[in-house]
Amino acid sequence: MTTATGSHTVLRETRWSDIPTLAELETELFGAHAWSAPSWWAELAARPRRAYVTASVAASVTASVAGAPDGVLGYAGVDRGGAVADVMTIAVAPAARGTGLGRALLHRLYELAAPASALLLEVRADNVAARALYESEGFEVLTVRRRYYGDVDALVMRRHLTDPTDSSAEQEQR
Ligand SMILES: CC(C)(COP(=O)(O)OP(=O)(O)OC[C@H]1O[C@@H](n2cnc3c(N)ncnc32)[C@H](O)[C@@H]1OP(=O)(O)O)[C@@H](O)C(=O)NCCC(=O)NCCS
Repeated sequence: MTTATGSHTVLRETRWSDIPTLAELETELFGAHAWSAPSWWAELAARPRRAYVTASVAASVTASVAGAPDGVLGYAGVDRGGAVADVMTIAVAPAARGTGLGRALLHRLYELAAPASALLLEVRADNVAARALYESEGFEVLTVRRRYYGDVDALVMRRHLTDPTDSSAEQEQR
């Protein structure tokens, strides 16, 4: 990949062997709300309804990258249960942030969500970086769940993946 994510980064399907690293990163990033290894097993077992992507340092780059255990730089997943898909998770290792990787992972979720016509997600109202990313991608706030995270609200956001005024797009999905 030679985009803003860096020439040595690849986006690939998440593997069972990623689970220990993902669980470790989750604990670092989400603390008490982290998905455990058994949660990851359940998520990957739910494929193909679920789809997960891992961003990692390309195998050709053997030197370990600071902050990227086993070369994993980030991950994201989507639930594609019907016309509307849901972002299950998206995260980038702290050392790899601010280089376009979060946006690249989100773009991959758009592809994985097809043929859903819209993508929903839930974000803490105080998550400045994530909100800025979603807003810059055209997500709009659909609902506010007051004090969903203790003292902090949750925002449910939606982005159309197909043109809602395009009736031919709707017809193709039937
Ligand atoms: C949210 C997250 C995935 C963004 O990943 P990232 O790789 O740093 O994001 P990118 O480099 O692709 O940046 C994309 C856009 O996000 C916004 N953004 C990223 N970091 C930001 C920050 N610290 N402050 C404000 N906006 C920020 C900007 O709009 C940026 O666009 P720009 O570079 O054109 O200004 C990352 O911060 C993260 O993993 N956070 C912890 C986990 C998390 O909160 N996940 C979301 C749960 S809903």
